Amino acid sequence: MTLTTVHTVADLRAQVSEWRAAGLKIALVPTMGALHDGHISLTQLARTYADRVIVSVFVNPTQFGPTEDFAAYPRTLPADQKILADARVELCFAPSVEEMYPAGFATRLHIDNLTDMLCGAARPGHFDGMAQIVTKLLLQALPDIALFGEKDYQQLMVIKRFVTDLNIPVEIIGGPIHREADGLAMSSRNRYLSPDERKTATTLSQVLSSIAERASRGDAIEPLLENGRQQIASVGFDPVDYLEIRDAENLELLHGKIDRPARVFVAARLGKARLIDNMAIIPANTAL
Ligand code: PAF
Repeated sequence: MTLTTVHTVADLRAQVSEWRAAGLKIALVPTMGALHDGHISLTQLARTYADRVIVSVFVNPTQFGPTEDFAAYPRTLPADQKILADARVELCFAPSVEEMYPAGFATRLHIDNLTDMLCGAARPGHFDGMAQIVTKLLLQALPDIALFGEKDYQQLMVIKRFVTDLNIPVEIIGGPIHREADGLAMSSRNRYLSPDERKTATTLSQVLSSIAERASRGDAIEPLLENGRQQIASVGFDPVDYLEIRDAENLELLHGKIDRPARVFVAARLGKARLIDNMAIIPANTAL
């Protein structure tokens, strides 16, 4: 099948209905476009579960704060369509803002607890807007499964929470972080980095992997985090929004020695780019 692009919910639903009538299993990969290999790895993972893969491309205004990069966010639909066609994705859903938020739209969504910290604290309202659009996309397409990258680990946890809470009949699957050869987590926002900043940006994954390794071995985490913050700031990241270790399931802040599956999370700004990354910490003595 070649790639088809639709721009309306009605056309999306017509295609999904046809596939459903044929008994096909359907996967959705929501994106904001500016596609890279990380997105494509999600479509490949989707393919292992489903017969048909839909990728949505929509830069969602409601998840950006007033001083954030909504206007500057790269919009590259023709290039994205080429990438999706090469990846043998069947359907691209690329709605307009008016299609998603028609005049009179008045519904908001808020998820407690999981959104108070990390990017929720640094970007007030971000997760409300994200939850609003992901809920709409899931209900519009009603796929069997939907896939999200673990680079946005907090986002993945928030999505699993509201999908359970709202009984949305879609299985949510996380895909592993896709990294450049030097360790930098792939992100559409890496395009904002100058060549020098791009080199500096590898510090984030280097710091995370050293902390994850030492915390897994049983070192107390406070000195590791303090050291990590200093290292990140010393190469020019400003501000360092957070560098924290949290429980991998409920995102509770952890202290001392790590005795359960956890993750180390970072967010920091380098020039025009606010970069985030995270890594798993699996204590050496944990039976998984
Ligand atoms: O992760 C993203 O790209 C976005 O937050 C998402 C899930 C597509 C919702 O706009």
